[in-house]
Amino acid sequence: MTQDELKKAAALAALDYVPDGAVIGVGTGSTVNHFIDGLAGIKSRIAGAVSSSEASSARMRAYGIPLVELTEVDSLPVYVDGADEIDGGFAMIKGGGGALTREKIVAAVSERFVCICDASKKVATLGRFPLPVEVIPMAVRHVARELAALGGTPKLREGFVTDNGNLILDVHGLAIDDPQAFESAINQIVGVVTNGLFARRGADVLLLAAPGGVQRHER
Ligand code: A5P
Repeated sequence: MTQDELKKAAALAALDYVPDGAVIGVGTGSTVNHFIDGLAGIKSRIAGAVSSSEASSARMRAYGIPLVELTEVDSLPVYVDGADEIDGGFAMIKGGGGALTREKIVAAVSERFVCICDASKKVATLGRFPLPVEVIPMAVRHVARELAALGGTPKLREGFVTDNGNLILDVHGLAIDDPQAFESAINQIVGVVTNGLFARRGADVLLLAAPGGVQRHER
């Protein structure tokens, strides 16, 4: 199976976690795109979706999936999203697509985070994938210096502006032994909007697609 076929298998398995009549949270990325394609087939069963990016909104709008603003709901029963890396404690690096801030907000109000991944995303230690950090533009040099002081090598994502009008620094060369502590440390840097560590609010369910089938892990 190709990596994309594995992504699709994980994504379609997540349809089992969509409650009837609910407004659900929907993430961003190539794996989630398969989920949205599947969600279109059961759209009459749900009340709507809160989107984490302009890209996912456009895809859902094209299918006629009703979009709901997060300001209209207090909580969501489930949030479905991919990850760039996930460790054994269900902490993740996210934001390869640059949607980390809205993803983290929607995840924060969701009761259950269902992570959909192909098996290549499972790692022992987070950090081989460069950690995305969304930054207020005027602070970019300051934040880069502070991230370097924490041991990483930040690189500006050239030509990229987030849905919120900010910049992304991708931090290379990390081996993150304590994801919750590192997430908090980066959040203390003035000018950081969000970092792509999802450790304090990690996944609750991992649907990991391997050639032998989709493994379902719950914590
Ligand atoms: C988007 O900003 C990311 O957090 C994605 O969820 C993550 O990069 C996974 O993307 P793919 O599903 O495209 O691998």
